[in-house]
Amino acid sequence: MTHNGVDAMTLTTQPTDDIAALAPWFHNLHLPDGRQTCPDHWLGDFPSFKWRQIAGSIPEDLTGWRCLDIGCNAGFYSFELARRGATVLGIDLDERYLKQARWAATQFDVADRVLFERMQVYDLARRDESFDLVLGHAILHHIPDLPRAFAEMRRVLRPGGLVLFAGEPSERGDRLAAIPKRAGLTAAPVWRRVMRARAAAPHDGDPDDGESLEPFVDVHAFVPEDLRAAAVAGGLTDVRVQGEELVANWFGWFNRTVEATAEYDDVPWMWRQYAFRGYLALQTVDRVLLEPRLPAGIFYNLMLTARRP
Ligand SMILES: C[S@@+](CC[C@H](N)C(=O)[O-])C[C@H]1O[C@@H](n2cnc3c(N)ncnc32)[C@H](O)[C@@H]1O
Repeated sequence: MTHNGVDAMTLTTQPTDDIAALAPWFHNLHLPDGRQTCPDHWLGDFPSFKWRQIAGSIPEDLTGWRCLDIGCNAGFYSFELARRGATVLGIDLDERYLKQARWAATQFDVADRVLFERMQVYDLARRDESFDLVLGHAILHHIPDLPRAFAEMRRVLRPGGLVLFAGEPSERGDRLAAIPKRAGLTAAPVWRRVMRARAAAPHDGDPDDGESLEPFVDVHAFVPEDLRAAAVAGGLTDVRVQGEELVANWFGWFNRTVEATAEYDDVPWMWRQYAFRGYLALQTVDRVLLEPRLPAGIFYNLMLTARRP
């Protein structure tokens, strides 16, 4: 029996790689069997390096906590919370990512305490649950009516429950990031000569190519005060907005820009190591030295913490 000229038995007996079958992945998950879901992510080992940024703001021991992960994607943050002992509900609008997340939950053997549902934040209005922590990364900028979203979070939080959002784009920080991108484009020809890398075909050479970002179209970039005001309008208290990533981000954009102008396979492994390790080191400089001292608005990303009164 054939289907489109292919023998059906051949199809069913072919070994199928479950990771490839669920692609494309936005989260590079490190699975217990050593495999990774997206080892060639255009941002590097994403979102592990983002987690480093916020991990210290969340209690180490979440035993007995019930957490909500909004915009959970393939579940990276949900699994990190579960690793600390929490039970988690991850919600996302996109069923493709939820399918990945449910599959990964079985791989991590946490499917009994990390559940994923197709839902958006306003749908919380239909839920009668109580969470100790509401967390989200790079999600608020997709939500058109933020005060309404924060009000729903407040409703499902227990009194005193915590809110943490990180990785939200900052309006001024984004404008400032144009500087290292322009510097990268200027330096690219010399950099390619030093690296002995061929120039990429024109389509691949545009680091701002919208294609890879298409599924994540932004609604807002924030000024810190507006973000704070939206959380206060939603009834949250102790609202604090701080900056995340300054020099690490500039370093990262410069490197990604020069790399994007070269053929992918020509970028030396040593350079990739330098770029990634350098980024991690500068992330620490930002976190320890700059984030506590400089105004939030100049950083590339914003982090918001708050609680229910
Ligand atoms: C930029 S990605 C961030 C994913 C993940 N939180 C992270 O930082 O790696 C945004 C995610 O939010 C989801 N999303 C977008 N709008 C949403 C909404 N209104 N409610 C729930 N999820 C949403 C998208 O499907 C996508 O998985």
